[in-house]
Amino acid sequence: MAGRFITFEGGEGVGKSTQVKLLAQALEQSGASVITTREPGGTRGAEAIRTLLLDPEGEGWTPEAEVLLFAAARSDHVERVIRPALQAGKWVLCDRFVDSTRAYQGGEGSVSDADVLTLHRIGSKGLLPDLTILLEAADRDTADRLRARDGDNSDRIGGRDQSFHHAVAQRFASIAQSEPERFVRVDGSGTPEEVHERVLAAVRGRLGPIG
Ligand code: TMP
Repeated sequence: MAGRFITFEGGEGVGKSTQVKLLAQALEQSGASVITTREPGGTRGAEAIRTLLLDPEGEGWTPEAEVLLFAAARSDHVERVIRPALQAGKWVLCDRFVDSTRAYQGGEGSVSDADVLTLHRIGSKGLLPDLTILLEAADRDTADRLRARDGDNSDRIGGRDQSFHHAVAQRFASIAQSEPERFVRVDGSGTPEEVHERVLAAVRGRLGPIG
């Protein structure tokens, strides 16, 4: 049987990686075979592209070069890791995927949402998750979490100004609204355990019993 592909999306410091871990543990306890991965990254080549993209000391990229690099990293990740795992019947939990490119790069410069989706079709044969969990939290809460996590060491994209991140959150919300069958919007406020309960309810609600 083909596996299940779940992605976690949202702005900076909203708790995605914690929720990926907690969901993986819950699925494993119920007997599922799970891999967790992240973007940009997940393969040697894609991790190297991650460094190129996010290095705070780097020179930076034009919006067009940036979107091509994210698409290239994703192509490698999908073909070498995600698709083989799904074909082997595994659950794949991924911290960010194409919707991050749509939200972060799709409204910037000359790059449109349609352009991002075209690159995804070329690079990754348009693979989409079975379920995308959009974690949402108030800007104030995430700013506090980020300060605790990164201090002054935020990366090249994470370190952009608040109006950029506000626009990203709005683009995520509108993408989720336009694809209600794939997305569940989950309130990211409260303790990690409280958010995890909401995530579990979303997964069961959309994909059925997990164990
Ligand atoms: P992370 O902090 O969730 O690991 O993500 C790294 C940064 O890369 C974060 O600032 C979001 C950004 N990003 C994009 O701008 N576009 C993308 O497609 C992805 C996957 C991440």
